[in-house]
Amino acid sequence: AVHERVDTFHDNDQKPVGYGRMLRKEDPRFLRGRGRYVDDVQLPGMLHLAILRSPVAHARIVGIDTSAAEASPGVKAVVTGAMLAQQNLAWMPTLSNDVQAVLATDKVRFQGQEVAFVVAEDRYAARDALELIDVEYDVLDPVIDARRALAPDAPLIRDDLDGKTNNHCFDWETGDEAATEAVFARADVVVSQDLVYPRVHPAPMETCGAVADYDSVDGKLRLWSTTQAPHAHRTLYAIVAGLPEHKIQVISPDIGGGFGNKVPIYPGYVCAIVASIVTGKPVKWMEDRSENLISTGFARDYIMRGEIAATRDGRILGIRTNVLADHGAFNGTAAPVKYPAGFFGVFTGSYDIEAAYCKMTAVYTNKAPGGVAYACSFRITEAVYLVERIVDCLADELGMDPAELRLKNFIQPEQFPYTTKTGWVYDSGNYEPTMRLAMEMAGYDELRREQAEKRARGELMGIGIAFFTEAVGAGPRKDMDILGLGMADGCELRVHPTGKAVVRLSVQSQGQGHETTFAQIVAEEIGIPPADIEVLHGDTDNTPFGLGTYGSRSTPVSGAAAALVARKVRDKARIIASGMLEVSVADLEWEKGAFHVAGDPGRSVTIQDIALRAHGAGDLPEGIEGGLEAQICYNPSNLTYPHGAYICVVDIDPGTAQVTVRRFIAVDDCGTRINPMIIEGQVHGGLTDGVGMALMEMIAFDEDGNCLGASLMDYLIPTSLEVPDWETGFTVTPSPHHPIGAKGVGESATVGSPPAIVNAVIDALKPFGVRHADMPLTPSRVWDAMRGQARPP
Ligand code: CDP
Repeated sequence: AVHERVDTFHDNDQKPVGYGRMLRKEDPRFLRGRGRYVDDVQLPGMLHLAILRSPVAHARIVGIDTSAAEASPGVKAVVTGAMLAQQNLAWMPTLSNDVQAVLATDKVRFQGQEVAFVVAEDRYAARDALELIDVEYDVLDPVIDARRALAPDAPLIRDDLDGKTNNHCFDWETGDEAATEAVFARADVVVSQDLVYPRVHPAPMETCGAVADYDSVDGKLRLWSTTQAPHAHRTLYAIVAGLPEHKIQVISPDIGGGFGNKVPIYPGYVCAIVASIVTGKPVKWMEDRSENLISTGFARDYIMRGEIAATRDGRILGIRTNVLADHGAFNGTAAPVKYPAGFFGVFTGSYDIEAAYCKMTAVYTNKAPGGVAYACSFRITEAVYLVERIVDCLADELGMDPAELRLKNFIQPEQFPYTTKTGWVYDSGNYEPTMRLAMEMAGYDELRREQAEKRARGELMGIGIAFFTEAVGAGPRKDMDILGLGMADGCELRVHPTGKAVVRLSVQSQGQGHETTFAQIVAEEIGIPPADIEVLHGDTDNTPFGLGTYGSRSTPVSGAAAALVARKVRDKARIIASGMLEVSVADLEWEKGAFHVAGDPGRSVTIQDIALRAHGAGDLPEGIEGGLEAQICYNPSNLTYPHGAYICVVDIDPGTAQVTVRRFIAVDDCGTRINPMIIEGQVHGGLTDGVGMALMEMIAFDEDGNCLGASLMDYLIPTSLEVPDWETGFTVTPSPHHPIGAKGVGESATVGSPPAIVNAVIDALKPFGVRHADMPLTPSRVWDAMRGQARPP
């Protein structure tokens, strides 16, 4: 009964299409260049802030002379860490229970760290004055390689932490070590592989920035900022500044891509706030591309060993992993408190196995802070990469087809809800049809025949498969919180007298089309057309509290809230309708948009009639207040677990080692689909991300800690030239606990595509005896692999 509406959302040609593939409501403003981003905010008298950053990775600050900068034309203020320290503002909490320097006081700990800021009349004056600040550094040896961070002689990075004597950040483990050991001891085959998921950057098109406007008369701070989580940020500012939340308004207007990069609170935001308080004027800070790449939240940087145990005939028995995580100089990611390594615990993938164990150590290094979930739900990308690579290594060892090995080990549909060996409860899944559809779309057998022919001719063609299960929609209050804040979302729906409506969300779109899909969800439930439903988000003064958008959590959590708040309004509408039609509530039937008397469809009232009655003259049923509105706070009972089967076909030029992705087939199952066009857009974007990570992207450092990926000339991201025409398909396995059966999808493709591409490249290189090579598989890496010289980055 819960899924009675599935088909109206679902457009598979045979079935009715609800509001399905509707064009995006937000596009008219974006297509006309009328989006309003943080950098578009112009306030009277606004000043501009620029940040001085450390040129070195590790150094003690001996002294800072700001006098020349202060005398520079147009400069209003120059602020150093020492000055912030006087106000107890030099350090701030991170979203992972660490602290991070707003401006360095004692030491700089990564290249690009914030050292001082200048506020001036315009951006140019501010930037010019930065060059006049004289900082004397006593340069220290840096720790760049995470593998060296715990060496006894490694320089100590976090001497700001009381009693700290090494660069250890945290340990974490999950699963059953002894049971896993026993399974490995009796297995016919054990395969072990070292894998590096290199440091990459979410690189949103819009960099980070803020405009702070503190009104000293009414004591209210207005902050426009590039944030994916305006409410969570406001609460943190309130705690740090000791201000009540109603004196802080965080406005997150149009956001030009987030991908996890806009979840942390950056020093620049805090500097802008301080600057506005100090100068009494609005202050804008907008970072440039290099600042974004060198100093804001990176992703991944996991050094992993994966081990898999199986029977000779290909039954997977156990999976074990050991991970070294590089968190940079400050643990600046956001992760639920109980899961310091995020949801890496789903590293057992989509397979029904007997035992699993994961051990993880995280370390500090002299690199930018982060470990953010770049288009993934807290480290799921790393987990999926690990399991899907080692399953391929196992297939290679067994001489089995990788599709067949996966099909043989899938969790079966009747096993759901399925509790994994690390304690996660997969809500629903039906893996084989998804895999079979992908194989059919790809023409899998034909591809293998083509490959055999090409191999015989010395041509390098590879076919790679990845099958993933994600855990998205964080998360159940009983299991997870971020810094003590439960991961629920509020939603408020008001229907106006004329039957038009406004729905207010606590999540924050960064391009995902929430203004469209959330209107569709509400429309489906109360029958007001989506065009008549305005979706408001991104302003803490005007939306209910909730934890924001990341980890594909909007639809699983806030989408559920939107459906339920609409049902709450519909329940009230039913009572009002019963009065209008003079029948009991039980005698009313709902047909999208109207109630009619059972057995007498001619006697009906529309939702618009009801809205007018709710606000107008005329009697309402006993005990019913006027108005037609409701609000709720939705606390999910579980995460949702979308899955997908991806198949990639690559060709490698044997002369240049250049990899071309010729075809990519992506079959996604995100439960009930709200807007298939938007889903396809999300999937296309994620697949493009995957090509970047698999083949091009890495934030590398030299031995002194200089960031080698500080511009888009050095940090390569794919364009339409590097990607094929995507071939997408879908299956629908609704979530049993989500009110409309929807699961998240925003990040599925980023998560699932890198292992498919790498598996395809390694498959192509089989004639060279290559079993693994680390991302990014640039021509030089592939060239090395072909010559037996594959080495970790
Ligand atoms: O949290 P985020 O918005 O990044 O991810 P999401 O919840 O997976 O949603 C991404 C976009 O796809 C939103 O506009 C969703 O409403 C839409 N979507 C959909 O149409 N059907 C689904 N089953 C899941 C998402």
